[in-house]
This record gives sequence, structure tokens and C-alpha cells, in this order.
Amino acid sequence: MILYLDNAATSFPKPEEVYQAADRTLRRYGVNPGRGSYGLVLEAGRLVYRTREAVAELFNIADELRVVFTSNATEAINLALFGLLQPGDRVVTSSMEHNAVSRPLHALRARGIQVTEVPADRFGRLQPDDVKAAAMAGGQAARMVVLCHCSNVTGTVQPIEEIGPWCRRHGILFMVDAAQSAGLLPIDVQSMAIDVLAAPGHKCLLGPPGTGFLYLREDLQPTPLIFGGTGGDSMSEEMPEALPERLESGTLNAPALAGLLAGIEYVQRIGIRQVREHKTRLLEALLYGLRQLPGIRIYGPGTATEHGGVVSFTMAGRDPAETGFLLDEQYGICVRTGLHCAPAAHGTIGTLPSGTIRVSPGLFNTREDVDRLLSALTDMLGPNFSISQQGDVQ
Ligand code: ALA
Repeated sequence: MILYLDNAATSFPKPEEVYQAADRTLRRYGVNPGRGSYGLVLEAGRLVYRTREAVAELFNIADELRVVFTSNATEAINLALFGLLQPGDRVVTSSMEHNAVSRPLHALRARGIQVTEVPADRFGRLQPDDVKAAAMAGGQAARMVVLCHCSNVTGTVQPIEEIGPWCRRHGILFMVDAAQSAGLLPIDVQSMAIDVLAAPGHKCLLGPPGTGFLYLREDLQPTPLIFGGTGGDSMSEEMPEALPERLESGTLNAPALAGLLAGIEYVQRIGIRQVREHKTRLLEALLYGLRQLPGIRIYGPGTATEHGGVVSFTMAGRDPAETGFLLDEQYGICVRTGLHCAPAAHGTIGTLPSGTIRVSPGLFNTREDVDRLLSALTDMLGPNFSISQQGDVQ
């Protein structure tokens, strides 16, 4: 049986309720929410609205209309960065970012936006004082600080609860990429002073692929990236001023959003704390087991409570890609290997150019699953295992 340990890429499987909600919506209300005023359209619209409310409640967002649905976290990040930044602005970010942040910022450099990258230490940890110093460099406050909450490479969790309120006090926009933390770690946009929050719906929130969202503080008015129909004010050639319509042109994926609602309700029912505790127990067992194996090097803080949902490691003398291939081919175990779309993070922890083997258990994984991975690795490290043999093994 296949063992999936790549939940940092997307959670799989989903709770049964998620499949059912998406299927039910597509069959019963598979119409276009916000386009027309007949009963089915209103029903689909109500479902989308309930999903917006559920997102707002989970992240303590006061006004659910400030939640914009996107197809993933990357789209949300692009909407925010391109929509809010102007030539001459300065942005502070870190050396642990995913390409979802670093590539848009790279493109924005060509448009006259200055980007400062604060290096993290070799465990992937950012020092708040370094971020603050970079944000105030030259005596002038940066326009924005943008950070990932939890690294998709090492799992390192950044101290956003300290950095956000500091940014607020200094009039600096604080944007958080919650790709690996939304649904796993508590996020409160009010107490953490988060002005902009981008997250996928399909990872720890357990929704289908093709879901994500962007939250923007009440007074932020971004320039749209996509222009088109919004279902209202059709005579105007301009995009609506109001969110979410301003950033939601085109047909929404209502069946997937219904699945996202079911995923959020599932997470809420279990409780974020319990989700985290479950994953922490799995990571503890994984870290302990990895440390018993020869030639394994673990990256990141190394204690389960300091990792979000992932652990990355390398095996001496072996290419991560080859290990991942063998785990899949020989043992039916799915892990992600390589750079995980975050090359700067690998530069930070010293794993360029081959990257790491990354294990990210999900809510439905068990201790037995971790043991199965560990015994596969033990087997691979055993005296009778050699790569050349593998064509014949099993
Ligand atoms: N960013 C996702 C990952 O880390 C896809 O795998």
C-alpha cells in the first residue's frame, strides 16, 4: 500500500466530508455563484459566503469581505505584492522564502522596488532584531515586511507574533505567507498584527487543490492583477472598489470552496492544538528514529515542537533524488526530494544544489507510518543494499 508523506505539497487524503461536499455542490449547485439571481445561484453564493465566514473565523478576521478567494497561496501572494507595492518602495524578506514570494519580489525589483533579504541562521531561524534592523535601515521604515510563517524546507517556525506588532508600531505593512502553517499553527491576524495573509486551502486546511485565499486589512486597496466580470456593476469599465469583487474576477470554483469549508470545519472540530500535537508526536518519533541511523543529517531546529509539519534530512553519500526514487519504487513511500521550490532556504542551511529528503506527515498518518519509513531507510542503509541491486530487489 502506498504511504503518502508529502502533505507539505498538498494534504492527501482529505476527510471524507471534503469529497462529499465538493461532489454534492457540483451535482446540486453546479451553477455560477454571483451570476444571476435564481435560486440555485443564490444557494451557491451562500455556500461561498459561508466559506468566507469560516476563513474569517479561523484567523480572527473581523470582516469576512476582506477575504479574497484565489486558486492557491501563490496567486494570493502575487495579488498582494503586485497590487500593493509601488516603485520606490522597500520590502524586507528572509532567506527562507519559497519561490512564491521570492520570484514575484525578483520581478518587482525590475519595476523599481528595493528588496532586502535578511539571512536566517543554519537552522532556518530568523532573529527578530535582524528583521527590525533591516526594516529601519538608513533611518527610513520599509514599506513592507513579508515572511513565511513556517519553512516548507526545514519546518522552522518564525516569530511572527513578535515581528507583526513591531511592524504595526512602525507603520510597516506586515505580510505573512502561511502556506505551511494555516490550519496547523494558531494564526490571529489581530493579535499578531498581520496586515496581509496569504494561504492555500489545500494543505493543512484540508480543502481541494485549486483553493487559497488572501486577507487584506480593511484600509488596503490593491490594484487588481486580473480584470474582468464580477457579477455586478457591469456598466462600469472600472473594477469595483470593494473587496472581494475587486480581486475576484471570473467564475469562482464553488465545488472546491465547498470542499474547503468542509475541511475547515473538520480542522475546527478536531482543534488546531490537537492537530499540532498529533503531528508533533509523529515528528518526534521521526526525529528520534532518524538519529539512530548512520550518516543521516537532519536540518532545521531538530526538536519536534520547533518544526511545523516537516522534517528535512540528507543521507551521507546519497543523492536525495535517488533516495526519494528508491523509497517510491521499492517501498511505496512518497516523500518530496530536491529543492522544494525554495533555493534560498537551501543556500541558508547548506544543502545546495541537491536539496534534501523532506517528510511531511498528515493528519491521518500514524506512528506505524513513521516506523515504516524508518525501517525502509534502515533497509536501504543495510549491508546488503546497493543501488545497482535495486533493479532486482523485490
Ligand atoms: N510548496 C509546496 C511544497 O513545499 C508545493 O511542496
